[in-house]
Amino acid sequence: MSKLKNDTLIRALLREPTPYTPIWLMRQAGRYLPEYNQARARAGSFLALCKNPDLATEVTLQPLARYPLDAAIVFSDILTIPDAMGLGLYFADGEGPKFERPLRAEWEIRDLTAPDPTAHLRYVLDTVSQVRRALAGSVPLIGFAGSPFTLACYMIEGQGSSDFATVKNMLYQRPDLLHHILSVNAVAVTAYLNAQIEAGAQAVMVFDTWGGMLSHAAFHEFSLSYTARVIAGLKREHEGARVPNIVFTKGGGGWLESIAATGCDAVGLDWTVDIGEARARIGARAALQGNLDPAVLLSSPAAIQREAGAILERYGLGNGHVFNLGHGISQLTPPENVSALIETVRGLSGSYH
Ligand code: CP3
Repeated sequence: MSKLKNDTLIRALLREPTPYTPIWLMRQAGRYLPEYNQARARAGSFLALCKNPDLATEVTLQPLARYPLDAAIVFSDILTIPDAMGLGLYFADGEGPKFERPLRAEWEIRDLTAPDPTAHLRYVLDTVSQVRRALAGSVPLIGFAGSPFTLACYMIEGQGSSDFATVKNMLYQRPDLLHHILSVNAVAVTAYLNAQIEAGAQAVMVFDTWGGMLSHAAFHEFSLSYTARVIAGLKREHEGARVPNIVFTKGGGGWLESIAATGCDAVGLDWTVDIGEARARIGARAALQGNLDPAVLLSSPAAIQREAGAILERYGLGNGHVFNLGHGISQLTPPENVSALIETVRGLSGSYH
């Protein structure tokens, strides 16, 4: 196993010393890049792009060709798991993800099984191995999955939603059915992330995009406890190297202590949280990743410098911070503003280490 030339991401996630604060961006490959839009047009659709390992590898590497990022993240989607379960994922133009067969009837829920990633998600594992080969040890590759709860949201609702009313209705009226789906999802997500680690992912991240819309009690019972099962089941080492993991709950600022208590290596923060306070609350229990408001990238280099500088300053001296946005990059982001952000973090962060 080749040694990484730039291991700042891995070291920061493990709270080890680094010469500067590493940076990568959620959704760093995507529609704000003209070369991404060209590749997607060649593939025919977003899903065809995900399912073609050559094109998915090309797109994964696009942001790294433009910017000195400290990590690559495999180009895929969290909804590959429910697609592999047979729910029929598709993307209607400009409308976001949808399922042909959302989970509604009790028998459909009882029939649900976790897919074998080496059979049904082979294309993702092939992309992971191809990207690893292409990176040749330059920077680490991050693998990812959705949280069991966030996947369940799409599987039950059948599409995105502003309130996920169908999911909440099941949560309050038939919690037994929701618990069954979540148990299957936890097994599926654990196997999928471990398969990505075996294929070459050097860190893994769980995206809990919708846990933050739950009540305090429901978040712990229906989202966090299943994310905790996933974390407990993950490989922590592969071929002699530690494989750190990150848990990101959008809207999870009130629950940072319980998220850290899952035993994850790092907690992802959205932009509503003060990162200095988050550090004080979590202490030595986990590293932190975040948390610039993605809207800052729509402004000017001067504003980007000020806002990114403020986050570095609020985190303060020492290790354990991975710079990122508080959610995915907007498709309206001017690509040159990403350069300004990375230069700022690279330029200012050395003095905190
Ligand atoms: O970070 C990266 O560069 C890796 C790629 C990545 C994508 N989706 C590619 C994508 C990652 C990490 C995801 C995760 C994902 N997907 C999440 C969790 C993170 C989050 O944003 O909260 C969720 C909820 C999804 C489901 C999903 N996929 C939605 C809701 C949408 C539509 C919204 C949108 O931005 O279009 C997608 C599509 C999607 N996934 C795109 C990309 C680049 C855009 C597709 C296109 O090219 O049209």
